[in-house]
Amino acid sequence: MKNIKKNIIVFILISVVFIFIWYIYNNASSKVGYKTDLPKVGAAIYKYDDEFMSYILNSMEDESYGKVALNVNDSQNDQNIQLRQVDEMISNGVRAIAINLVDPKAAQIVINKAKAWDLPVIFFNKEPESSVLNSYNKAWFVGTDSKEAGILQGKMIVDLWNQNKSKWDKNHDGKLSYVLLKGEPGHPDAEARSKYALDEIKKAGIPVEKLDEATAMWDAAKAKDKMDAWISKFNNKIEFVISNNDVMALGAIDSLEKAGYLSGNKFIPVVGIDAIPAAIKKIKEGKMVGTVLNDANSQGKAIIDLVANVAKGKNIFSGTSWRGNSDKSVRIHYVIIIKDNVDEAEQAYK
Ligand code: GAL
Repeated sequence: MKNIKKNIIVFILISVVFIFIWYIYNNASSKVGYKTDLPKVGAAIYKYDDEFMSYILNSMEDESYGKVALNVNDSQNDQNIQLRQVDEMISNGVRAIAINLVDPKAAQIVINKAKAWDLPVIFFNKEPESSVLNSYNKAWFVGTDSKEAGILQGKMIVDLWNQNKSKWDKNHDGKLSYVLLKGEPGHPDAEARSKYALDEIKKAGIPVEKLDEATAMWDAAKAKDKMDAWISKFNNKIEFVISNNDVMALGAIDSLEKAGYLSGNKFIPVVGIDAIPAAIKKIKEGKMVGTVLNDANSQGKAIIDLVANVAKGKNIFSGTSWRGNSDKSVRIHYVIIIKDNVDEAEQAYK
């Protein structure tokens, strides 16, 4: 009798401990989005140290809760590191991968790795060549249309220049004398933005004078250095600073402010692309004249919606409002942002 009683107590105690462990595990895991029944998804960002990408990452993490068990890697701007991360994702049993390539040309290697395990791949932000994307029926791209950003930036420059020409055309020669800060050479966004912004200005009949163009690799400190050098080289000749993104525009603004520009009548218009909160602040302060919204929130949401579907073996667009293009892409539209509609950008980066 005594033994039976003892066994019952031991049984109850063990059960209580098990229930307690089960409860803690389930609660903790659902809080961080790693519920065991969610499909594992591996992702990589080309480098965490890129402000715009950090907004995409935040959006992806927010959107992943309850949908996928997302594990994101920082590829530290090194394609070899990223390829090793892809190998690890595969050996960890992910059901799909989402990749922001370091080098857009490495898309084929990633596809070969994924294809060997029949794994779907969503590339985002850095667009692979369409022939490469077409080589695998389980590969897609989520991002934007790089050309559209350039066209809109160009249109915005045309409007602003026409409205302010009497003040901004300092030597009154009718030409728009500019310096251009470029992102990573070979990056589809950097190339298309630079080309189409200028095409648009020329198409509007505004004569341009290119003082210089240089890459600052999407980076504020590098852009500040370039701008410092340009200010001393060209002195008062610069009439416009065109930047492929906001982070570099902010670096240029920093340089201009330190050199005594952007106040009083020493004004030089600066434009960027992305509409990140720091740039919106400068636009509100009147230190930057415009940008183009690159909607990080929507891109993060589209990446997760699509990768969750393919990881579950569903149709990629099932239950979503995203529509694919014939080139296997989902592209989020850009929007011109000037002082009058900054709230649109603030909404998108909430
Ligand atoms: C662009 C963005 C840049 C930079 C780049 C990284 O779309 O405008 O700021 O983040 O992506 O690939």
